[in-house]
Amino acid sequence: MRMDGATDFREKYEEYANFINNALDSCLATDNKPGAEIYNAMKYSLAAGGKRLRPVLALAVCEMLGGSRSEILPFACAIELIHTYSLIHDDLPAMDNDDYRRGMPSSHRVFGEALAILAGDALLNKAYELMVSHMLKKEGDLRACARAMDVIASGSGADGMIRGQTLDVCYEGRELSGEILEYMHRCKTGALIKAAVLAGACIGGASVPEYEALTRYAENIGLAFQIKDDIMDVSGDPDLMGKRSGKDAAAGKNTYVSGYGLDKAVQMLDRSVSAAVESLGCFGAGAGFLRDLALFIKDRDN
Ligand code: IPE
Ligand code: IPE
Ligand code: MG
Ligand code: MG
Ligand code: MG
Repeated sequence: MRMDGATDFREKYEEYANFINNALDSCLATDNKPGAEIYNAMKYSLAAGGKRLRPVLALAVCEMLGGSRSEILPFACAIELIHTYSLIHDDLPAMDNDDYRRGMPSSHRVFGEALAILAGDALLNKAYELMVSHMLKKEGDLRACARAMDVIASGSGADGMIRGQTLDVCYEGRELSGEILEYMHRCKTGALIKAAVLAGACIGGASVPEYEALTRYAENIGLAFQIKDDIMDVSGDPDLMGKRSGKDAAAGKNTYVSGYGLDKAVQMLDRSVSAAVESLGCFGAGAGFLRDLALFIKDRDN
């Protein structure tokens, strides 16, 4: 019996996420030497769950282009390690002071602030260890790997995610212009999502026009993802989201809801998702999963 499109998408997503989860399970192997408890904190946040959206994107893009899963896997895992570190640090008292994440008490609530900071630092380093050790084992041309690592490093650094987080915390209680609000969202959340798509494009061997189309797709879903996150903070169900709601307004955060109101934020979300779908035109039917993923970002409840 033929399944409907939504079932196909969910099954494929789950299959990608399971593949990633298996690989993540084995990438934090440790020893019994003193101090190995840092791994408990790293594993706690990584194993707590999460949608695995970024590594799923990297895998899906690479496969759509005919690339192999084993080649993109270390980069996909690295991105999830970086994302998990960013969540641990984002929740710290000095940042958003959130005590609940991925359906569990946040890292600093369980391990204390010092270990939460260190676990974030260690996950970030582990990401680069994974990518470099893959490259050291590989024979032949390493340029595609180096390009993937470059998009990941720049997307998560001071001109990407960290730039956005800087704007987020420095402008609490002070209203940003629409232009800078968009820039903040494109950086704090969009940049790592874009890095995931472009890492898949590098390893999958995208042509120049394909790379450009995927860049437009990534930028639009990246912005959409954070607009939806802003919307869910006012209208989402904390049990489904695995994190508390109603925190942004209380902290004086600049969000699409605070800047534009809920209805306009929903319209802007729709616009970004439509633009993302349009940018996939050149891939034809092969981009069905990425199209559905853009729609999932709009309709998700977690
Ligand atoms: C949460 O990201 C932080 C933002 C960038 C908005 P996700 O919503 O992808 O969190 P997990 O990985 O599913 O927990
Ligand atoms: C987080 O944005 C972005 C990063 C972690 C880089 P938010 O602060 O809105 O994410 P949540 O709502 O805590 O997941
Ligand atoms: Mg934050
Ligand atoms: Mg936060
Ligand atoms: Mg949020």
